[in-house]
Amino acid sequence: MPPGALSGERLPRHIAIIMDGNGRWAADRGLERNRGHLAGVESVKEIVRCVHDLGMEYLTLYAFSSENWNRPDTEVTELMRLLEVYLSENIEEAQERGVRLRVMGRLDRLPDATRAAVDRAVESTQDNPNGDLIFALSYGGRGEIVDAARQLIRAAELGEVDPDLLDEKTFAAHLYLPDVPDPDLLVRTGDECRISNFLLWQIAYAEIHTTAVMWPDFRREHLEEAIRDYQSRERRFGMTSAQVETGMGEGGAGER
Ligand code: IPE
Ligand code: IPE
Ligand code: MG
Repeated sequence: MPPGALSGERLPRHIAIIMDGNGRWAADRGLERNRGHLAGVESVKEIVRCVHDLGMEYLTLYAFSSENWNRPDTEVTELMRLLEVYLSENIEEAQERGVRLRVMGRLDRLPDATRAAVDRAVESTQDNPNGDLIFALSYGGRGEIVDAARQLIRAAELGEVDPDLLDEKTFAAHLYLPDVPDPDLLVRTGDECRISNFLLWQIAYAEIHTTAVMWPDFRREHLEEAIRDYQSRERRFGMTSAQVETGMGEGGAGER
């Protein structure tokens, strides 16, 4: 393997990305923040292709947080517009590649036109078998956990769930996309080292890679660097190195 080349072994099955730094990218160039969001769409397109080309099954992109609703109206409106344009322009490529578009978040807060564009994209790609591209939209990790708890309380009231038997597996089955495996690798761009309410439950054992690269500059080589960093880690899931080396560490995290 040439130096610096990406090994196809131990690729993460699921990568989640906090796409941060659009506003600062624009400000550094004397541009309005919204120009940074527009430039960020190009990074989305490239990274979606790379993940698919590398054969990874799940990519979750943090596109709009529940807290982002507090941004100025002009910025929120532009982010929704860009999402609609992205979806309408990229459904065809998703179909050709057989990628399934999915969303997670409190979608009832989206403007009608955005919601319609999302529903169209999700519906028309729902049977595609070659990987999931998931957008976290109007998403907050705490909100997701509260929504799961609300469903569980209702189920318990109906006698469908016994509180004494509630375990992590049953709880996780009430999250937004219960069939999606936890992210193996969490990437955050934009020179920040925080979670910002993203996938709080699911990242319990994710490997975390942060980079100073602003999202609009994030390209294939940066993704490959993140994957190489991931491949260099030993995932111990609470066990010892010796246990992992002898194969006892197979199987991942969770209640045992
Ligand atoms: C990420 O970039 C995009 C969204 C949060 C929607 P930001 O807009 O947060 O950019 P910075 O962090 O202000 O540079
Ligand atoms: C996180 O970025 C949300 C998204 C990338 C959609 P923010 O820019 O909103 O995060 P904070 O406010 O810096 O924590
Ligand atoms: Mg930011």
